[in-house]
Amino acid sequence: MAFPLTDEQKKIVDDRGGELLVSAAAGSGKTRVLVERLLARVTEEGLDLDRFLVITYTKAAAAELRTRIAQELSARLAEHPGDRHLRRQATLVYRAQISTIHAFCAALLREEGHRLDLEPDFRLCDEGEAQVLMAQVLEDVLEQQYEDLTAESPFAVLVDTLSAGRDDSRLAQIVLDVFSRIQSHPHPEQWLAQQRQVWELEGVSDAGQTPWGRLLLADAARQGRDCRRRLEQAISLAEEDELLEANYVPSLQAA
Ligand SMILES: Nc1ncnc2c1ncn2[C@@H]1O[C@H](COP(=O)(O)OP(=O)(O)OP(=O)(O)O)[C@@H](O)[C@H]1O
Ligand SMILES: [Mg+2]
Repeated sequence: MAFPLTDEQKKIVDDRGGELLVSAAAGSGKTRVLVERLLARVTEEGLDLDRFLVITYTKAAAAELRTRIAQELSARLAEHPGDRHLRRQATLVYRAQISTIHAFCAALLREEGHRLDLEPDFRLCDEGEAQVLMAQVLEDVLEQQYEDLTAESPFAVLVDTLSAGRDDSRLAQIVLDVFSRIQSHPHPEQWLAQQRQVWELEGVSDAGQTPWGRLLLADAARQGRDCRRRLEQAISLAEEDELLEANYVPSLQAA
């Protein structure tokens, strides 16, 4: 590589302590560090590139990574043309497991899917298909809930609270919205249970005891302070004029 690594980058490249999280700004050299780290292990420990699993989020990032590893290998090969281990890596890099999470999981399922009775010719659905399927499932679930509806059931209360008359599209929207938000939690059901607890009001006599109450009270206090500042400003402006002072200051002070 043309530029030497910074001390911080070098520390990351040399770290062999196990799990390592590198969080840094865009364009700060994360991919560079990853490539150096990988090649350091390949050259120092004599490992082959296809022994590693390298995962990224997008196809573009996976392609970029493979290209950059291949380029770095060529650069090193140019410096050590007789190195057979390096030469082997230059071929292996095109077979190495460098892919998106989706592609890796799909490959794994294709190899091991028989253990789950999965049809071998399955394919990944795209986002559009997933949305259609999700809407279909939601409709079926809601339909079932309406069939089993009783006046006091929690579902009846939910529908009453969230729907406008006969239109329950808002309920469906909220269910989908909550569903997509909880996808980023490793244990969605546990998280939902925690959220339910936050809204439990048993034994709570003061809104300040709840997280949402604290937020509302802090906001009310902030607005109160702002009003007070404005009233004080109004009083000092009114005091500049005799007539205004006589007519407005008493009521402003009363406020
Ligand atoms: N120590 C360094 N000195 C000079 N240039 C560097 C250094 N480290 C990385 N670079 C260069 O900075 C540019 C961005 O690096 P890189 O692509 O590794 O960053 P990144 O954090 O992965 O970016 P992104 O967030 O876009 O994925 C590259 O051209 C890389 O060669
Ligand atoms: Mg990068």
